[in-house]
Amino acid sequence: MVDLFSRRVALVTGKGGVGRTTVSAAMAVAAAKLGKRVLVTELGEPDGDYTPLARIFGRDTLPADPERLAPGIDGCVLWPRRGHEAFFRTVIPVSAVVSAAMGSGALRKLLDTAPSFREMGIFYHIFTLLELEASTGRPKYDIVIVDMPASGHTLGLTGLPERLLALMPTGPIAEAMHRGIPYFTRPDLCGAWVVTLPEVLPITESLELIEGLEGHDTPIGGILVNRVIEDPFTPEERAALEPVLTPGHYGYERFVGVVQATEALADLRERTAVKTVEIPELPLTSTDLIDAIAESLTKAGGDA
Ligand SMILES: Nc1ncnc2c1ncn2[C@@H]1O[C@H](COP(=O)(O)OP(=O)(O)OP(=O)(O)O)[C@@H](O)[C@H]1O
Ligand SMILES: [Mg+2]
Repeated sequence: MVDLFSRRVALVTGKGGVGRTTVSAAMAVAAAKLGKRVLVTELGEPDGDYTPLARIFGRDTLPADPERLAPGIDGCVLWPRRGHEAFFRTVIPVSAVVSAAMGSGALRKLLDTAPSFREMGIFYHIFTLLELEASTGRPKYDIVIVDMPASGHTLGLTGLPERLLALMPTGPIAEAMHRGIPYFTRPDLCGAWVVTLPEVLPITESLELIEGLEGHDTPIGGILVNRVIEDPFTPEERAALEPVLTPGHYGYERFVGVVQATEALADLRERTAVKTVEIPELPLTSTDLIDAIAESLTKAGGDA
């Protein structure tokens, strides 16, 4: 079993197109079914273009502040401006001053473009969402799922605290970083879930990503191998088929695909001790696909 749902932060990452968004949505659905209060997020702007994550929940975009998307599931974008605003409120007690400052085009330009400030806003926005309290005094959300950008950009975010603390070892930004860092480095609070495909290249890339994440002290939850085609053959059957099936035969492509996926998975298990979860390739789309993947994730990590 892997503890897919017990940590406060789930960073869903991996290279482009492997299924990060699908898995993020399915994790949200599965966690909500387990009774968790879920917030699902992605980087972006509230009035940006439509996003696939929002579409899964029947919207064009996600709002800047959490709104209900489905039973037990709220959603919002991680928006640098929200983070900057929240941060300034902690250092400037007069909110009118903060509003005026945020309204200044020059300051906004600086915050949007200066190296690391964009990430700092995103980081601080997640932090404030994690610290939101329900009326009962406990956290408003048991789990915040982040549909992370593809690999390289993910590392830009996870490496932020170290970069900023090197630049500004003391002061209010350093203090904010120190308060937020545990949410991204403690394995009981955070897990990066690296989504990949059962193919040689994506697997190699996912292992490189894991190395990068470990270099930033990001706890690795596990590797989610997505779109695994079920292998209908026993090893004996496979061995018997291999010499007789040649290109052009009906089913050859699929047979080779299955064999290569099996080999790639074996190779992955040999190269890393990180736990893996297989998610099947399913002949489904939209909510049916999400629900079916949610079910398979619950089986893999539902009790933890
Ligand atoms: N297990 C699966 N079975 C069948 N189809 C899948 C599965 N997982 C994902 N897909 C499909 O693959 C496509 C890409 O998935 P998705 O958008 O989640 O990937 P992504 O990693 O978020 O991509 P991007 O890098 O563009 O953000 C989608 O059309 C999705 O429906
Ligand atoms: Mg996506």
